[in-house]
Amino acid sequence: MTEHRVCRVEELVDHEVRAFRAGRRELVHCLFDGRVCVLSAECTHEALPLAGGAIDNGVVTCPWHGARYDVRTGAVRALPAVRPLRSFPARVDESGIVFVDSEA
Ligand code: FES
Repeated sequence: MTEHRVCRVEELVDHEVRAFRAGRRELVHCLFDGRVCVLSAECTHEALPLAGGAIDNGVVTCPWHGARYDVRTGAVRALPAVRPLRSFPARVDESGIVFVDSEA
C-alpha cells in the first residue's frame, strides 16, 4: 500500500471533479454523497483530462466528448469510452485528512 496525504475533506466540493497528484500518478477526486471517490485522471477515450467534468446521479461525464463513467468504480456507462477508468481507495482519517492509495 502506498498512501498519500491529499487534502482536507473540507477542501473538496460536492460533485466537483478536481485533479491532483499522488506519487507518480495524476488522479481526480470527487466528493459524491459524502464519499471521496478517486479515479485515474485521463479519460480512456482519447486520454484527455477528466477534471472539470460533471457528476450527475453517480456518473461522471468527460468534458470533451461525453463519455460517462460510474464515479465509484470507474465502469463505463456511455460511449465513446469502452475501457473503464481505474479507481483507487481513499479514506478520511479522524482529523479530516484525505488519504489515497495510488498503487492499489
Ligand atoms: S476524451 Fe473523454 S470522451 Fe473523448
